[in-house]
Amino acid sequence: MRQEFLPFAAPLLGDEEIGEVVECLRSGWLTTGHKTKQFEREFCEFIGAKHALAVNSCTAALHLALEAVGVGPGDEVVTTPMTFTATAAVIEHLGARPVFADCEPGTLNVDPAAIERRITPRTKAILPVHFAGQACDMDAIGAVARAHGLPVIEDAAHAIPTRYRGRLVGTLSDITCFSFYATKNVTTGEGGMVVTDREDYAERMKLMHLHGMSRDAWKRYTQQGSWSYEILAPGFKYNLTDIAAAIGIHQLRKCHAFHRRRLHIANQYDAGLAGIPGIALPQVEDREAHGWHLYVIQVDAAQLGVDRNAFIERLVARNIGVSVHFIPLHVHPYYRERYALQPGDYPNAWAAYERIVSLPIYAKMSDEDVRHVIEAVQDIAREARR
Ligand SMILES: Cc1ncc(COP(=O)(O)O)c(C=O)c1O
Repeated sequence: MRQEFLPFAAPLLGDEEIGEVVECLRSGWLTTGHKTKQFEREFCEFIGAKHALAVNSCTAALHLALEAVGVGPGDEVVTTPMTFTATAAVIEHLGARPVFADCEPGTLNVDPAAIERRITPRTKAILPVHFAGQACDMDAIGAVARAHGLPVIEDAAHAIPTRYRGRLVGTLSDITCFSFYATKNVTTGEGGMVVTDREDYAERMKLMHLHGMSRDAWKRYTQQGSWSYEILAPGFKYNLTDIAAAIGIHQLRKCHAFHRRRLHIANQYDAGLAGIPGIALPQVEDREAHGWHLYVIQVDAAQLGVDRNAFIERLVARNIGVSVHFIPLHVHPYYRERYALQPGDYPNAWAAYERIVSLPIYAKMSDEDVRHVIEAVQDIAREARR
């Protein structure tokens, strides 16, 4: 058995990130400045988007995006229950209502037909989430959006570098939001990026991400800057620091290499866990296009002889860190009580919830770590059959 606990997630940081942060600290310019601007430029090039705005979380990116498309009190935004609370909380922050559309049972991505059924005259936007890093069916979602004249904002917290029919996520719809949280595919500790090709959305988000101050407010402590500014709207405080951007610049350059490593781990899991009765592997449409932020298996308690919670306990007892993505939003007290929701209202999300387990998948894992995870799962399955 494995001697040391294997964390569920950990970043892979090198001397490049450390050197750039040290340089930033020595420069004396800590907050949004040239490094952030460089990170935005390089992110635009990486994705192939016209505008990228660095912010201090994906939550901030989502909030700005919804505000920019005009979501406000009384509006509805259609999203998935199979996500983290941030996706829906920002809708609430704007006085609007998150309307959930069930996910597909296989990919756990939101079902485009379910989105269409949830559209009402109050719907103001569609907010799909690329679950685990696998792209949603964006052609179908785009068709629904066009038919109803709605903008699409993508929650791509898991989805860098994810492709959909050959195109990178970030080039597919009106606005796309990325996360650089500590466990994400590219990290800045805390951080995010919002990208768009639309000039008007880019302008609005730029204004709102830094207090609603008139243009290039971040320059006001430089020689080229001016003390004078105007407040054009009651904006937010969502700018990214240069310290964080210093990390992000180098993480982004390693993004494809990290992805290759996670794809390799996913392939090892697929080979090592195939054919275990009661363990279903992730349903994947295009292995190379999947961003592999998460590797989510599904436990069939009756077949395996162990339910999901006991399975997790046994993995942790074998020193393997795991997680669950996600406890669907409609069963959390806030959403359940506010919108009088029952678990069975979203049968696919609810059925999946009782079965899902996320196994560790990150570039820092060694082949030995991966082998330990596979052996632990095999071991638990063998014991349960006895
Ligand atoms: C699907 C999804 N959306 C949004 C977020 C929020 O990201 P951040 O922590 O960068 O605000 C997360 C974070 O875990 C997430 O998993």
